[in-house]
Amino acid sequence: MARMKKGEEKDMRKVAIYPGSFDPITYGHIDIVERALEIFDKVIVAIAENEEKRPLFSVEERVQMVRAFFKETPKVMVDSFKGLLVDYVAKTNAIVILRGLRATSDFEYEFHMASMNRSLDAHLDTLFMMTSKDYFFVSSRTIKEVARLGGGVEGLVPDLVVRRLKEKFKLPVTKKKRMGWDD
Ligand code: PNS
Repeated sequence: MARMKKGEEKDMRKVAIYPGSFDPITYGHIDIVERALEIFDKVIVAIAENEEKRPLFSVEERVQMVRAFFKETPKVMVDSFKGLLVDYVAKTNAIVILRGLRATSDFEYEFHMASMNRSLDAHLDTLFMMTSKDYFFVSSRTIKEVARLGGGVEGLVPDLVVRRLKEKFKLPVTKKKRMGWDD
């Protein structure tokens, strides 16, 4: 076996890629990242541009909200990508794709996606983590719908996301909350 020269050591840190639309990030997503950090040395939150899904937030806005939440967590890196996920993963040192599963209804979509990714790259596995019971009913789609109709989503998404949703839907943001708007 060829000996590695100094400085050529392979990066042995265990890195997972957590891809998604994150339109917007919820505490369900955050719970998955936090639990994954118990297993992996680093988690890359990879935000798909996904313009065909007509996201509410631009990719820059989504990246900014996720970065703001994890700004004190150096083991989380936040990035965005265009095109195939497998091509993005190949540019990183990630060993696995990470996805959350809320209910059996998620299974078919996730199974197809994981199988397609594995067919595109036979070495790439997807690891599923069950969403915590507190968040199994939370999805970005329902968060947007409730927020658009003026319902409260506090406690289900970070405060910054609550404020951004109110701005998007032109709902009143309290003065007190505005004062903390510096991230
Ligand atoms: O949060 P989402 O919308 O369920 O995330 C889906 C996502 C972004 C992970 C998926 O659409 C994706 O990987 N898109 C990139 C394009 C791609 O690689 N498609 C082939 C896999 S089916």
